[in-house]
Amino acid sequence: MKRREVVAGLAGAASIAGIAAGAGPPAAGAVGGSPGGSAGPGAGAGDAAGLPAAPPAPGRPPKRFDARGCVALVTGANRGVGLGFVEVLLARGAKRVYATGRNPRNLPQVVALDPQRVVPLTLDVTDEAQRRAAAAAAPDVTLLINNAAYPGSEVAAERRMLSAASLDDARRVMDTNCWSPAELARLFVPLIVRNGGGAVVNILSVGAYFCLPEFSSYSISKAAAAIMTAGLRAETDRQPVLVSQVVTGSVLTRASPVGTRNGVTPVQHAEEVLDALAQGETEILAAGSRGFFERLRADPKAFERGVIDRFFSNPVRIAPYG
Ligand SMILES: NC(=O)c1ccc[n+]([C@@H]2O[C@H](COP(=O)([O-])OP(=O)(O)OC[C@H]3O[C@@H](n4cnc5c(N)ncnc54)[C@H](OP(=O)(O)O)[C@@H]3O)[C@@H](O)[C@H]2O)c1
Repeated sequence: MKRREVVAGLAGAASIAGIAAGAGPPAAGAVGGSPGGSAGPGAGAGDAAGLPAAPPAPGRPPKRFDARGCVALVTGANRGVGLGFVEVLLARGAKRVYATGRNPRNLPQVVALDPQRVVPLTLDVTDEAQRRAAAAAAPDVTLLINNAAYPGSEVAAERRMLSAASLDDARRVMDTNCWSPAELARLFVPLIVRNGGGAVVNILSVGAYFCLPEFSSYSISKAAAAIMTAGLRAETDRQPVLVSQVVTGSVLTRASPVGTRNGVTPVQHAEEVLDALAQGETEILAAGSRGFFERLRADPKAFERGVIDRFFSNPVRIAPYG
């Protein structure tokens, strides 16, 4: 791939770099298909890393999740991508949606969407006491959507590894974007299982698949969250819980890069994700990220070169910081 195409590909593909819009129902609000995944590649064989060989496993149907009748909890539900999930869950017949946000003053407008079915909860995802209180207040959850995220300091130098005065802000990014969703999964997976099965959805980003130097700490946290999600998927393989990661491309929100015009709406993004859950997808390429992956996989080194050159010539800025 030529360098110009790579730069254009990135600029047109990633949320943080501005992507163009891309792109059999189970039982109500529960996972369909039998628990467990299918035998993966390499099943029955050892490998070069010295991992033990897996015994041949019978193929299992994929787990699927239908939003109709579900009870969902969405983090960061007060705006952007999270608010889009609330709207689409209500439209698709969710029984109840716990709309959580760290500032309770931002939640009445979400409740107003459907006061009978939207339950507001104050939840700063990094606050352990609030996480526990949310689990106690929402014992009937069958779908956890880990959406809330912190992009990092508004001081650009603090989002990088070498120019930051310390890695304190990077640790906050990691805590918000990786460990807090993991903590919520630890609280809610047992409830979901007790409620007959369901799904955990972690919202990642194309920034999980390469390091955007303008937002190093964010990329690091999303890459870690991708592996964290794979770990949750493995640990729940024998349980009726579908664990999916969403590789979000470009959704038009406050977190969009300055000047972004290409992107889907939060409602379109949520529709794509819920459609994919109904098909049992575990890696959901949403809001244009499919094209991004094609460009990245076609020539990873040229892609990285394009990212670096753009960083020095025309760095990405996101809207909250101007
Ligand atoms: N927009 C895109 O193009 C895009 C692309 C890739 C991935 N994503 C992912 O999509 C998700 C939502 O992004 P967005 O575009 O909707 O961003 P956004 O408009 O900036 O919304 C971020 C949300 O996260 C909440 N939040 C931040 N820290 C929190 C904390 N400690 N506890 C609870 N809530 C917290 C914010 O709450 P406050 O309102 O209180 O600040 C807000 O509700 C994120 O995971 C992001 O990484 C978005």
